[in-house]
Amino acid sequence: MVTGASSGIGEATALALASEGAKLAIIARRLDRLERLADRIRENGGEALPIQTDVATETQMSAAVDRVVDEFGRLDMLLAIAGVGVAAPFQRTTTSEYRQMFDVNVFGLLYSIAAALPIMKAQRDGHVVILSSGTGRYIHPSTVYSASKHAATAIAESLRREVCTDGIRVTSVEPGAVSTEFISQMRPDVRDAVEKRLGDMELLEAQDVAAGIIYAVTQPKRVNVNILTLYPAQQAA
Ligand SMILES: NC(=O)c1ccc[n+]([C@@H]2O[C@H](COP(=O)([O-])OP(=O)(O)OC[C@H]3O[C@@H](n4cnc5c(N)ncnc54)[C@H](OP(=O)(O)O)[C@@H]3O)[C@@H](O)[C@H]2O)c1
Repeated sequence: MVTGASSGIGEATALALASEGAKLAIIARRLDRLERLADRIRENGGEALPIQTDVATETQMSAAVDRVVDEFGRLDMLLAIAGVGVAAPFQRTTTSEYRQMFDVNVFGLLYSIAAALPIMKAQRDGHVVILSSGTGRYIHPSTVYSASKHAATAIAESLRREVCTDGIRVTSVEPGAVSTEFISQMRPDVRDAVEKRLGDMELLEAQDVAAGIIYAVTQPKRVNVNILTLYPAQQAA
């Protein structure tokens, strides 16, 4: 189950998992994008179930997990990739932007885990991959976004300790700047400031992050990849 599969890192991860033979449930709000992705996966012989879901609505998230279990009989992996960000300093972030980032990046993540975990515990088998960010471990000027991703990192670190004896693995993925729609969708003044800060740096591609995730989820069951940190070479200082 991949949340945030309608674009960027989630879409690239879904495609990479499909080429490894995974049966996929793909989750986001934009159903047209999910259907196009499902068609691409099916054309290559894979299996994909698009489920239009707002991860920040608890009932929708639990219904999505129920649907996956009805359809596939089990849930092996949750790839919690959905996220939003306004990478602005605190004084240039509005209160509605705070709420949206916490609703999706924190509550949406918690609802996704809460819905998936009982299934994985009953199976005594599962893998939760949480797409946090470099801003979730280091301090960056994007105060509220960084705070929401520090929460995501803390959830990953803590959950891993809580469920590691239940057969469930947890991986925190913490990339630097990735070339996706993430930046272009920000408020124009914030987008311009971020683009200025990044300059002509060659960013990571979504496929680079997907390749890291594939590494983490294809290790033998005895191996837990705790943290995956990936940065553009020029941002790695
Ligand atoms: N790009 C970067 O530089 C970067 C760096 C580090 C970490 N990240 C993290 O990587 C993750 C993926 O971002 P991306 O770069 O791939 O950006 P993206 O292309 O904008 O993708 C974001 C995805 O999240 C989904 N999403 C947002 N709100 C949602 C909601 N309420 N319910 C369900 N799905 C929702 C979007 O789908 P819909 O709009 O269709 O719902 C979309 O599929 C995010 O968690 C982001 O914080 C990004």
